[in-house]
Amino acid sequence: MTVNITVTDENGETKELTWESDQTMLEAVIAGGFPVLATCGGNASCATCHAFIDPDHIEASLPREEAEEDLLDMIDDVANECSRLSCQTQYSEGMDGAHITLQPGM
Ligand code: FES
Repeated sequence: MTVNITVTDENGETKELTWESDQTMLEAVIAGGFPVLATCGGNASCATCHAFIDPDHIEASLPREEAEEDLLDMIDDVANECSRLSCQTQYSEGMDGAHITLQPGM
């Protein structure tokens, strides 16, 4: 299964991508050609994979785990209620049509 998402990076480049059900959001974004640093390797400890999800889809991105909440608290100058760590964001069908804006937190 797949959903279609639109991704915009911090330079304003926008692409439409396919997100496959066995990928995290980070994996889908990287597969789509965006060179996210992901310096911690997807372990919720660097925030280079931070992204905003449009308000209409943030609930569909499923709840944050504690480690993600803790890291987002550390970058609260950037993060808001629409923030996710893309490495911690699992596929969900409700994300079809979502607009993701990449905004590295560190
Ligand atoms: S890749 Fe480091 S927090 Fe997501």
